[in-house]
Amino acid sequence: MQLLCSERILQLPRSGIRRMFDLAAKHPDAIHLCMGEPDFATPSFIIEAAFQAAKEGKTHYTPNAGFLSLRRAVAEKYKKEQGAYYDPEGEVLITVGAMEALVLTLMSILNSGDEVIIPDPYWPNYQAQVLLAEGKPVFVPLYEEGGWILTADRVLSHLTPRCRAIIINSPHNPTGSVYGSNELQEIVRVCKENDILIISDEAYEKIIYDGEYHSICSLPEMKSRTIVINTFSKTYAMTGWRVGYVLGPEPLIREMTKLQENVAACASSISQEAALTALKRGEEAVMDMLTKYRRRRATLLQEIEKTRSFSCCPPRGTFYAFVNVRRLGDKSEDIALRLLKEAKVVTVPGSAFGSGGEGYLRFSFATSEDNIREAFDRIRSIL
Ligand SMILES: Cc1ncc(COP(=O)(O)O)c(C=O)c1O
Repeated sequence: MQLLCSERILQLPRSGIRRMFDLAAKHPDAIHLCMGEPDFATPSFIIEAAFQAAKEGKTHYTPNAGFLSLRRAVAEKYKKEQGAYYDPEGEVLITVGAMEALVLTLMSILNSGDEVIIPDPYWPNYQAQVLLAEGKPVFVPLYEEGGWILTADRVLSHLTPRCRAIIINSPHNPTGSVYGSNELQEIVRVCKENDILIISDEAYEKIIYDGEYHSICSLPEMKSRTIVINTFSKTYAMTGWRVGYVLGPEPLIREMTKLQENVAACASSISQEAALTALKRGEEAVMDMLTKYRRRRATLLQEIEKTRSFSCCPPRGTFYAFVNVRRLGDKSEDIALRLLKEAKVVTVPGSAFGSGGEGYLRFSFATSEDNIREAFDRIRSIL
């Protein structure tokens, strides 16, 4: 009998994060410090906008590239915040979350065997997405001592003529690192000298604790070399609405829109209307959530400080802390399993984010301060 599934699909790795979630389901009394999404409800005025859109009959297919009103608002945002000018009629594509934006991007830029540099540790979906597009992921290690930032010399030591793109995810899941403009300049130099594209995943751009966010697309001559990926998921607590977008050079966006027609047709019409309201009126709600994340981050860092075997490079963005647990001597997966079974606390082992994450656990602070304190009391009682 023929194989039921294609080789393409069979080669996709299983997610280590999913595995922890499945195990955690057997412990209903466990505290979850593993969430990859905001615990907040979507702000109510955004939900109202969606109801209104549905009542007004915005329940049909939209243009493949998304409603022009939303594309205009996205272009306006990048002009205002990053000084980068995108044409809403050719350089913006609305997608089904950042997830689809990444798949469309990789399928549109890679030929079979082309390489993509992924700084390691990494959000695991990058690996699967590159493989899905028949590309080859090339992992370049990041180090805690270097603040989890990719440097030019490390890129150069992994570069081959087949390299097509580097994925820069800032703020970074799982480490919380954020690239400053000097650090971006280094990557820009390598990218220009070697004619490589940057895929800039900006999913957590608004969850940042000091300084301004710099998108690599705003640096001189980088707009034509950068594909910006962004989403409403994390910023506005809208993970289930599935709206994101891509900004990039017009010829590429044109081809990606053709692909979009064949993959999803368009992002949900109602979600697009909700996203438009989020962009127009969401600033205060975003600041409010950020204030809460900031407090939780402080609580988490205090608890880590009190826990003898743990240490951590404080996250500058995201709602994750990547905690060094090397002093415990075991593999990160074994430590995470022990915390789950004995302390009833769910974390994600660093190894789920690539070999560069071994020796670490990812703690999410998208949960209440009480939960964070209680989880650490439990952890300290078993260590
Ligand atoms: C770095 C990163 N990029 C993209 C995504 C996907 O976002 P979306 O919900 O828009 O598909 C996530 C989700 O966890 C993420 O952590």
